[in-house]
Amino acid sequence: TVQQQDYIDKIKQLLIEKNATLVAHYYTDHEIQALAEETGGCISDSLEMARYGRDCDAQTLVVAGVRFMGETAKILSPDKTVIMPTLEATCSLDIGCPDAEFSAFCDAHPDHTVVVYANTSAAVKARADWVVTSSIALEIVEHLDAQGKKIIWAPDRHLGAYIAKETGADMLMWQGECIVHDEFSAKALRDMKHLYPDAAVLVHPESPASVVELADAVGSTTQLINASRTLPNDTFIVATDRGIFYKMQQLEPNKTFLEAPTAGNGATCKSCAHCPWMAMNGLEAIYNALTAPSGHEIFVDDELRKKALVPLDRMLDFSA
Ligand code: 13P
Ligand code: SF4
Repeated sequence: TVQQQDYIDKIKQLLIEKNATLVAHYYTDHEIQALAEETGGCISDSLEMARYGRDCDAQTLVVAGVRFMGETAKILSPDKTVIMPTLEATCSLDIGCPDAEFSAFCDAHPDHTVVVYANTSAAVKARADWVVTSSIALEIVEHLDAQGKKIIWAPDRHLGAYIAKETGADMLMWQGECIVHDEFSAKALRDMKHLYPDAAVLVHPESPASVVELADAVGSTTQLINASRTLPNDTFIVATDRGIFYKMQQLEPNKTFLEAPTAGNGATCKSCAHCPWMAMNGLEAIYNALTAPSGHEIFVDDELRKKALVPLDRMLDFSA
C-alpha cells in the first residue's frame, strides 16, 4: 500500500542517517525481511543474528525479532545502541523460565552443567555455563556428553527431548515449550502426508517428538532452509513459523511450500504457525523505534551482562 511504501522509504533514509542496520529473524513478516535485505542488513536464525550484530560496523542495531534477541545483541555489543520495534515482543519459553525458579533448580543440582537455550532472559543466561541455539545445540551437548557431563537443559522440553534422544546425554529438563511449535499435530500431519505423498517434511525441533518422528529433515531455521534446497522434492510440508517461507520461496521459486497442520486447525490454536510476538514487528513500529528510540531501547544491567557474556561467548567460539 501507499502507506507501507511511505514507511519503507522513511526507514531506509533513517537507517542511513543514524548509521543503523536492520537485523531480522526469519519469522518476522515478509516485508520486514525484504527491507532488511534491501538495506544491506541481515535476515537469519538466532545464532547468526547474534554474530552479525556483534561483527557489523553499524552504531545502532534495529533488532526485528523477540526480546531475547535484542538482549543478546546488547550483551555482545554494549557500546552499540540496540533498539527494537517493540519491547513487548517476548517468547513463551522466556516467560516459562523465570530466573528465580531457574536459579533454585540449578542450586538443587550443583553437579550439573547448565545449558540454556538462547530464548531466555539475560538473568537466566547469567546463571548458565553454556548458551545454545537450535542450530548448534546438538553439537554442544554431544561435546559435553563426551566429557561425561550431566546436563541441566532449559527451557524447551521438546528440543531437549530431541537432543537427549540423538545424543544419549544425561539431561535434566525444564518443562517449557514454544506455543507455536507445540501446536503442530502428528495426526493431522500424517493425514496431510497422504494428500501429498511426494512431499518432504521439514520440522523445527521445538515441535513435539511425535511430529519430529515424521520429519525428513529436523533443524534450526537455517538448517531447514538448507534442507529445502538440497532435498530433491518439489513440495515441502514445513512445521515451523510461516515467516520462513519468505526465504524458502525466494531461494526455490519453483518449489511448493505448505504449512504443517496444527491441532486446532485455525479454530482453537493460539498461534497457528505464526508467532504472535514476532508478528508485533511491523513497519510502523520500526519507524517509531528509529524516530523516538525511548521506550524501544534495550538495556541490560552491567553486572548481569558480564555474567551472561561468558556462556554466550562460549557458544560463539565453539561455532566459529
Ligand atoms: P532458530 O532461528 O535459532 O532456529 O530459532 C527458532 C526460534 O524459535 C526463534 O524464536
Ligand atoms: Fe518463542 Fe516460539 Fe515465538 Fe520462537 S516462535 S519466539 S520460540 S514463542
